[in-house]
Amino acid sequence: METPEVEKCRTGSSGQPDEIDSILEKYRGRKDALIPALYDIQKVMNYLPESAAVKVAEALEVPVSKVYGVATFYTLFSVKPRGKHIIRVCESAPCHVLGAMNVVKELERELGIKVGETTKDGRFTLELTSCLGTCGVAPAIMIDDVVYGNLTADKIPHILSEYR
Ligand code: FES
Repeated sequence: METPEVEKCRTGSSGQPDEIDSILEKYRGRKDALIPALYDIQKVMNYLPESAAVKVAEALEVPVSKVYGVATFYTLFSVKPRGKHIIRVCESAPCHVLGAMNVVKELERELGIKVGETTKDGRFTLELTSCLGTCGVAPAIMIDDVVYGNLTADKIPHILSEYR
């Protein structure tokens, strides 16, 4: 059976940590660019370590407390180390009604982790999220930058095999 897939975007970079300097240069002095700067850094590091938050604060000339406030407020960001691939399962009502929790259970079973955890090999982190904006193909998940829709639990092993 073919796996329905909705590819939204691929903005990903599996870049190196030394890319952080060029990201900071790009946004230097731009107080209004906190979210894009954090987003770009997280794309490189998979999460926002304390050291990066301090560097962002210095470069954008904003208080460190503001950087932490934004980094901890939005579910898009994580201040905890995460796996190479981030799996986000939409838990909003349309996806929930159409079986998102069955998808979550299968992901937990396949990966051997619970929501909020990272696999021991550091390959996957499993998270819940609010609406991904693809309700027309609910239930939906996002792995890194790719959205998969019209999901049922039996499609999960095939999807994960693309990332293993
Ligand atoms: S409710 Fe799940 S994608 Fe919108």
